Amino acid sequence: MNITEILKKRRATRSFLPSPIPSEVLEEILRLGCLAPSSYNLQPWRFIIVTEAEHKAKLREFCFEQEKLTEASAVLICCGDRQVNQKKYINKVIELGKQVGSMNEKRAKFMHMAIPSFFQFKPCYQFMEAWTNRQVMIAATYMMIAAQSLGVDSCPIEGFVAKPLREYFQIPDHVDVCCLLALGYAAEPYSQYGGRFELDQLCYGEIYGEAFELGPISHERTVEYT
Ligand SMILES: Cc1cc2nc3c(=O)[nH]c(=O)nc-3n(C[C@H](O)[C@H](O)[C@H](O)COP(=O)(O)O)c2cc1C
Repeated sequence: MNITEILKKRRATRSFLPSPIPSEVLEEILRLGCLAPSSYNLQPWRFIIVTEAEHKAKLREFCFEQEKLTEASAVLICCGDRQVNQKKYINKVIELGKQVGSMNEKRAKFMHMAIPSFFQFKPCYQFMEAWTNRQVMIAATYMMIAAQSLGVDSCPIEGFVAKPLREYFQIPDHVDVCCLLALGYAAEPYSQYGGRFELDQLCYGEIYGEAFELGPISHERTVEYT
């Protein structure tokens, strides 16, 4: 499947078959998901991979008894670490960049200067939880797309009660739970497409609320995905 087909075919899966995802496929989904972009490459996402029946049963309890939690082969608890602004952690990101040849001293100095002030002044978000969610949801989305490309179905889940879930899975206070992601093989019938609004209801041209019209260049473009 090419990326266009993958994006069109992905559905939030309501019900899963009992078949397990092979561990190498699950690992590949996790690896591809972690290729997601993040602010300053801080990669604040942390994933708890839940596969044991006992733990999935607990998750189901915390998720208003949604059956998919026990049916899915694996459920990821997608978390975001709010402490990635600490000096020690920033150094780790810098070290990683040096290892792959993308970091120089100028960039390292900039990171040490810019990151603490970005987190102090929060110019584009109010609460750290908004920031962690912003980052982690991209990785979760990458995983849904990666999973689809590997024939694995998924369902993102926000229908959970955070407090007991946090306690049971021993999630520390500085870590936010952003969503759960159920992974497995869809049972029949496959979830139906719920439809999407037309672009003119969702996109504005230049100023919020102004009509968006595609210009001649966009019309002429033939988009070929491979
Ligand atoms: C952040 C988020 C949270 C969601 N939470 C749930 C959930 O708790 N339970 C559920 O069955 N579906 C959940 N969904 C799936 C949506 O209902 C689904 O994506 C939407 O209806 C569009 O359907 P589609 O993904 O198949 O195109 C969630 C989706 C997102 C993006």
